Amino acid sequence: MSKILVLGGTGWLGRTLCEQALVSGHEVHALARGSHEFAVGAEPIIADRTHPDAYALASALRWDLIVELTSEPQQAREALGALATTATHWVNVSSCSVYAEQSVPGADEDAGVLDPLPPEAPAADYDYGRAKSYGERITMNSTGARALVVRPGLIGGPGDTSGRSTYWPLRFSESRSPVLVPEDRGNEHSVQVIDVRDLAAFILDAGLAGHHGYVNAVGEQTTLTQALQLAKAAGGLAQNHQVVPYNLARLEEDGVNPWAGSKSLPLVLPPGEEYAGFARRADSRSLQMGLERRGLDRTFADIVQAGSAGGAGTLKSGLSPVEEAGLIAACAGGATPWIATAQLTAVDENGQDGKVPLST
Ligand SMILES: NC(=O)c1ccc[n+]([C@@H]2O[C@H](COP(=O)([O-])OP(=O)(O)OC[C@H]3O[C@@H](n4cnc5c(N)ncnc54)[C@H](OP(=O)(O)O)[C@@H]3O)[C@@H](O)[C@H]2O)c1
Repeated sequence: MSKILVLGGTGWLGRTLCEQALVSGHEVHALARGSHEFAVGAEPIIADRTHPDAYALASALRWDLIVELTSEPQQAREALGALATTATHWVNVSSCSVYAEQSVPGADEDAGVLDPLPPEAPAADYDYGRAKSYGERITMNSTGARALVVRPGLIGGPGDTSGRSTYWPLRFSESRSPVLVPEDRGNEHSVQVIDVRDLAAFILDAGLAGHHGYVNAVGEQTTLTQALQLAKAAGGLAQNHQVVPYNLARLEEDGVNPWAGSKSLPLVLPPGEEYAGFARRADSRSLQMGLERRGLDRTFADIVQAGSAGGAGTLKSGLSPVEEAGLIAACAGGATPWIATAQLTAVDENGQDGKVPLST
C-alpha cells in the first residue's frame, strides 16, 4: 500500500485518481477547498492554495506519490516549495497544449514547448499552455529524476463537463432527427480522446513505478468520421437517425465554432496547416510505460449510459436544438442517410488551419 496525495483531488480527473487509488488499496489524501465532494474513503485536506499556509498539514507527512493537477503557476511553485522533499515521486499532470507547434503530425515528447508563464505575470496575460509549461519546468527543476510529467490530449468520458467528448454520443442518443454532422473529410480530421479512467490508471501506475521524464497520454488516433459513427452506434438509435452533412467551409460565415464551446461542432478542427498535428500526437512512449486504453466505443457507451440532465443541447459544447435546426434548414440537400455521406478510410495526415487556440 502506498500513501498518495492528490493536489486538486476532487475535480473530474482528480476524483477519478482518488477513487482508483482507493480501489487498489492505497491510502489516499486529497487537497482541495471542499467545494466538491471528496471520494469516499479519501482523507480530505481542506485548504485554499491561494493562502500561504495551504500546505502546512500536508508538509508534515511523507508521501510515496504526489499528483499535481493545477494550471496555476503560483500554486505549482508553492506546492513544490512546501512538498517536494516530502515525496518519493511526483507526477505533474500537464497537457499537450504545452507544445509550441500543433502543426506536425506524429510529433513526440521532444518537440519544443511554449515559454513558461511566470507566477508574477499579470492575470490578463494568463495563457493555459504557457502556465502548464511553467508547471512542468518548476517540477523538473525541483524534483529532477523523481518527477514524471504527463501530457494528456483531450480527456473524455462520463463526467466531462466541457462537453467535447460527450456531445456526439448524447446527441445520437436523443430521438430528434435529423442530426447535423460535420461533412466527411475522410482522413483529414483526426481525433484522439483518452478515457479519464485509463488516464487515471496510467498516472497512478507510472508514478508509483517511478517513471520519470515527459510522456504524452493520448487516445488512440482515429478519424472524426469513425468517431461519429461510433457515437451514433453508442447512441442506440443507429437505424433511425438521418444526418445532414454540414459544409465546414461555412463555419465562419455561420458563426459556428470548431472544437468546443457554445454553438460549436465539437471535435472539428479548423481548416488549414496550423492544427495539422493536433490530435495526432505520438503515443509510443506511453504505451511502453504501460498505458492501456479502452476503445472509443466503450467510452461513448458509458457516456450515453451516464446521460445528461439537460440533453446534448445544454452542454458547454455543441449546438442547441434551435441552432441545429436553423443550420439544417440552411443546408441544401436535406437529410441524408449516414452511409451515403460517410466513407470509411484509413487514417492519414492532413493540413488544417485556425484562428482560435485549441487547448486540451
Ligand atoms: N480536460 C481535458 O481534456 C484536459 C486535457 C489535458 C490536460 N488536462 C489537465 O487535466 C487536469 C484535469 O483535472 P480535473 O479534471 O480534476 O480538474 P478540475 O475538475 O478543474 O478540478 C480542479 C481541482 O482543484 C481544486 N482547486 C481549485 N482551486 C483550488 C484552490 N484555490 N485551492 C485548493 N484547491 C483548489 C478543486 O477543488 P475545490 O474547488 O473544492 O477547491 C478541484 O479539486 C488538469 O491538470 C488539466 O490541466 C485536461
